[in-house]
Formats: sequence, C-alpha cells, structure tokens
Amino acid sequence: MSDVRAPGDKSIAHRFLILAALAEGESILCGVPAALDVDSTASCLRALGANLEDQGDGLFRIQGPADWRSPTASLDCGNSGTTARLLAGLLAGLGVEAELRGDASLSLRPMDRVVYPLQAMGARIHYTDRPDSLPLRIEGRASGELRALRYRPRVSSAQVRAALLLAALASRTDLEILDRLRPRDHTERILRSMGVPVVSEPVDDGERIRFRASRWNGGLRPLVATVPGDLSSAAFLVVAALLCSRNLTIRSVGLNPTRAGFLQVLSDCGAEVRAVETGLQGGESVGDLSVRASTLDPFSVDEGLVPQLVDEVPVLAVLASRIEGVSVFRGAGELRAKESDRLSLVASNLKTLGVRCDELPDGLRVHGSLAPVSGTVRTAGDHRIAMAFGALGAAPGCEVTVDDRECVNVSFPGYWEALARLTSGEGSV
Ligand code: S3P
Repeated sequence: MSDVRAPGDKSIAHRFLILAALAEGESILCGVPAALDVDSTASCLRALGANLEDQGDGLFRIQGPADWRSPTASLDCGNSGTTARLLAGLLAGLGVEAELRGDASLSLRPMDRVVYPLQAMGARIHYTDRPDSLPLRIEGRASGELRALRYRPRVSSAQVRAALLLAALASRTDLEILDRLRPRDHTERILRSMGVPVVSEPVDDGERIRFRASRWNGGLRPLVATVPGDLSSAAFLVVAALLCSRNLTIRSVGLNPTRAGFLQVLSDCGAEVRAVETGLQGGESVGDLSVRASTLDPFSVDEGLVPQLVDEVPVLAVLASRIEGVSVFRGAGELRAKESDRLSLVASNLKTLGVRCDELPDGLRVHGSLAPVSGTVRTAGDHRIAMAFGALGAAPGCEVTVDDRECVNVSFPGYWEALARLTSGEGSV
C-alpha cells in the first residue's frame, strides 16, 4: 500500500489568493502549491498592489485589502486560463486599468466567454490583437459603475462564474447566473465561508447562482486555511496505481462533489474507491481517498458529468485504453478549448501507440485492450497530456516516451518522481 499527498488544489489556490487580497485583515494560507499557474496569479496580484508574502513551503501571509493600482507593465498570466479569466473579472469590477497577456497556448484560448458578459455589465474591455484572444485591455473607470447582470452562459464554466462573481463583488453589483450544467463551485463555497451571501439553488433547467449586493455588509473575513490536495493531480497517480495493480491512499485531498466525477467513473467501472471526509477548509471538504487494485469494466461519460471531471478526461481515456472493451466520452467539446485540443491530442497519441480510438466531434470512443503499446507521445506543452501518458508508461507492457516532461510543472512539480516511487512500490510517494 502506498501513501500519497497530492500538491495543493490549483483551482482553490487561485481563488484563496485573490479573495485573501480582497479580504479585510491578515489571511494565512498553507499548502499553496508551487505550481507555475499559481505563481502566475500570485505575481499578477503583487503587480496590482496586493501584499502577498510567500514564506516558503506553501505558506502565504496576505494583508488585505490590497491597495489596488494599475500595474506598470502588462500582466503575464503564463499558461493559466484561470488567472487570465478571473483577473479579467476582478479588474473590471475594481475599475483598475491593466493589460492581460499569456503564453502561446493561452493566447489561443477563448476569452469571449468572460469578455462578453463583463461588457454587458458595462466594463470597458477590448482585445488588443485578435478577437476572442489575449492580450486583453481593461480600461479604468470610477468604481461603482457596473450594471446588474442576469446571465445564461453559453458554456458552463467555473472560470466564467468566478470572473462574474469577482466583478460583482468588487463593484458591489447584483448578479444572477442561470447555468444549465454544474461546474466546480469553489468560488461560491469560499465566498460563503468569508461571509458573502452567495446563494446557489437548483432550478428546473439547471442551477441558479445569486449575489445581492444590498444583502452584503461589504466585508470579506480573512481566510485561515490549508489548500486541500488536488484531486485532478491525484487522478494521474490513482490511474497509474490501477494500471500497475497497486493499492493507494491519498491523504487530505479535496472531495468537493462538483469535482468528484472521476471517482464516480472509477466506481462505475468497478474500482474499489473509498473516500472518508476528515474536515473542511475554506468551505471545501477534505478527506482521505483509498483505491484498491480491481478488474475494471468499460465505462461511458456523458455531458452532465463532464463539468465534474473536465480535467480528468485525458487520464480516464488512458485508463480506458487498458480496459478490454469500448469506453465512450460524449458532450466533452470543451476539451478542445483547454491548454491544447485535448480530444484531438489524446486520440492521435493513442493511435500512435497502437490503440484504436475514434475522435468524435464532442468526445472519444476508446477501444481498450491489454495488447502491448509503445511509442512517443506529443504533449504540445500540455501538462495533463504529459501526466496522463506518463501514467500509461508505468503500466506493464507499455513503453511510452513523453516529448516534453517539463510541462508538468504548470500544476504538479515532482510528478515524475512521485510516479517512479509509486510504481517501484515504495511505501510513501
Ligand atoms: C478551472 C475550471 C475548469 C478547469 C480548469 C480550472 C477553475 O475550467 O478545466 O483547469 O479553476 O475554475 P472551466 O472553466 O471549463 O470550468
């Protein structure tokens, strides 16, 4: 049995840092991952006047509220879509002038999903190069000028929700979002834990999120919290363990139900998975997760489940490639707008390795078998493609070379070492 701790949850860490910079007083955060994406958020916040002290080993002290100011240079969001989209909302709400830019991959990712509703709130945001892409300029304005918004997003996205909530909060404007599906709800949970009345409720055709500025006293309580382990990072080790028939326990991992689609698929296909909740951190449930080596059946993932496992599709496709029979993913068109076109890249890499895989317009059909595979996979610099195929390379009968191993640092520095310890059977990964 191996015992693992996954790095801190990237999604939660971005939000903890941003919200701590808005809070009144000192926040203390532990377990902030050393991931490059989170570094991008921290350095953009500093350039905007936030007082973030990195004390090492994942410990941050943040004195809020920040003395917000326009940065002297454009803000580099690196590879991080969450940084770019959440900061677009925050800056629009604060009325702080800034330009957001990103690396080559991020500059190809769609930004209209946040720009359009922010413009509908009255924010002045425009593209400086190509439509729908970074760089993006947010113009300054006197605060308090945004308009209330009632909005049905075209894509169900946690980043869109978070961007709009940050804009509404920073400008004290009413917001109502009607979402057909249910993406991760970290922003709503953390805000409630800081004393902000954000209401989420099921409605006939999905979910409604409401923020009423008049019901809020205008204050955010500081956060004293530990970032839960990242289930999306843990997923690569879990799949590697299943492929190598090893039992594994992951300690202190986030168990937020809107992120738990991966666990549901594992138990649907016959894996023995046990999650025991041990506490709450900033409104987020945390616990220990155990997985036992099991014989697995093929599975299917449909549109309703995709938001709850959106980042786990590549690794689940890799798992499916070693389960005899046909596994199917549908309603996953959003995967084409991630750090790479993940549907196309997963399908072409599986084919390169000799696995039959059909790329569908909105998904994948994977014909799994236990035949030996070998070859070199192309990551296009996408951390989750590298880690998913790295996990496959750990399985018996699989010779996989990953063309770019460094890109895992975006979310999981130390991944290759953890994987090597897990597959060599060392007690602690
Ligand atoms: C994230 C939301 C997800 C996910 C991304 C992180 C977030 O994207 O893919 O890695 O932190 O809000 P969506 O915007 O599609 O929900």
